[in-house]
Amino acid sequence: MITNSTELTIRSHAKVNLTLDILGLRDDGYHSLRSVMQSIGVYDTITLRRSSPGIHLTCSDVRIPINERNLAYKAAEALYEAAGIEPAIDIHLEKKIPSQAGMGGGSSNAASVLRALNLMLGEPLNLSALCEVGANIGSDVPFFLIGGTALVQGRGEDIEALPSISTQWMLIIKPPFGISTPWAYRRLDEIRAQEPEALPKRIQSIECNETVCTSSDRMIECIEAKDWDLIPKLLSNDLEAPSIERYPDIEGIKEALTASSAKGALMCGSGSAVFGIFANEQEAQSAAEKIGNRYGRLFVTRTINRRESWGIDRLEHQGI
Ligand code: C5P
Repeated sequence: MITNSTELTIRSHAKVNLTLDILGLRDDGYHSLRSVMQSIGVYDTITLRRSSPGIHLTCSDVRIPINERNLAYKAAEALYEAAGIEPAIDIHLEKKIPSQAGMGGGSSNAASVLRALNLMLGEPLNLSALCEVGANIGSDVPFFLIGGTALVQGRGEDIEALPSISTQWMLIIKPPFGISTPWAYRRLDEIRAQEPEALPKRIQSIECNETVCTSSDRMIECIEAKDWDLIPKLLSNDLEAPSIERYPDIEGIKEALTASSAKGALMCGSGSAVFGIFANEQEAQSAAEKIGNRYGRLFVTRTINRRESWGIDRLEHQGI
C-alpha cells in the first residue's frame, strides 16, 4: 500500500522531443509549441521519506542546488500547499540525467515528486489538478505527469496522450557544454526577426490558418499509421539551428551518429544532448563503442511506454 507509507522510491525518467515546432512568441514571453515528446529509459532515482516538519532536499550531484530554486523542492512545496498539509518530508535525488541537456531532468524530478508525494498523502489531488500545479513549476512538468508518447501544445501545459510507439533504441551523446533554455529561445527569436523570409510558411500563416501542417502533425500521422521506419526520418527541432550556429559540435555529433548507422539524429529539446535512433540495441551499442568518449557522455537507451514512465512499478492508478 503506497498511501500512508513512510518511504517511497520512484524512477524519474528523461525525455526527448521527436519534434519541436516553435510556432511563435506569446504575450507572456513564452512560446507556443507543438511537440511530440517521448519518455526514455534514462532516469534519476528519487527517495521520499516522511520526516520532521519542513522540506529537506539532498542530491548526489553537488552542482545541483538543493534549496527553494530546485524544481523538486518547488514541487513538494506546491503540492503541500495545494493539499493544505504542513510539509514534513526528506527528498533525496540520485542524479543520472545530465543538466542543461534538453532531456528534462529538473522537470521530470518535479513531476515525480508530485506523483509520489500525492500518493503518500492519500491522493488529495487528481491528475488534472496535479498537471495544473506542475505547469506553474515548469513548462515540461505536465508532460512528465502523463509520460509515454504525447503531443504537447500551448506553453507546454496542453497534453494529448498518443499511442505508444514501437521500441526505438537510441544513443544519446551529452557534450561537456550545456545550453541555457531561455538563451536558445531568445536566439531563435532574433534569427526569425532578422530573417523573416527564412520563416517556414507554416509559421507565417499560423495566425490565419489553424490547419497548417507542422513536423509534429507529420510525426503523429506516422505514429497513428504505425509506420515506425518513418520516425527517424521525421525528426525535427526548431531550436537546433540556433544552437548549431553557436555550438557547431552539435552538428559534428549528429554527423558522427549518422556515420555510425543511426537512421536519424536530433538535438534533444533546447540541447545540448543529441540522440540518434538505431535499428536495434546492438547497433546502438556498437555506435557507442565506435564513437567512444570523443564528444562527451554516452547513454544507450530506448523509448519507454506511459506506464513504465511513471516510475513506480506498484502503481495501479491514473486512468489513462
Ligand atoms: O517553463 P520553464 O521554466 O521550464 O521554461 C524555461 C525557459 O524556456 C523560459 O524562461 C522561456 O525562456 C523558455 N520557454 C519558452 N516557451 C515555452 C517553454 C519555455 O519560451 N513554451
